[in-house]
Amino acid sequence: MGTTLEIGPGSSKVVALGAKPVIVLNGPHGIRAFSAVCTHLGCIVGYDASKSPDIVSPCHDGHFNAVNGNVVSGPPPAPLKEYPVAVEEDKVFLLDA
Ligand code: FES
Repeated sequence: MGTTLEIGPGSSKVVALGAKPVIVLNGPHGIRAFSAVCTHLGCIVGYDASKSPDIVSPCHDGHFNAVNGNVVSGPPPAPLKEYPVAVEEDKVFLLDA
């Protein structure tokens, strides 16, 4: 798992949780973690802090809210699953598989 120092404000990192890719981002509401698999056709999403901020699926321009994972625009039919996180000192832990 990445550290908060490694995932600075406005940045993100995709990590593996078992076989599942999870995007951990450091947004305006702190550290959040979501499934990195777009709910449309499964592309790996990225974080764009310069937008609303958004989580963006590059394949068909799907946008998700980086605070709650909800769909903002584009073809994704469902929100991204959120994973609870805990931050202790500079370590980030995913609490739920
Ligand atoms: S796979 Fe994400 S918008 Fe199509």
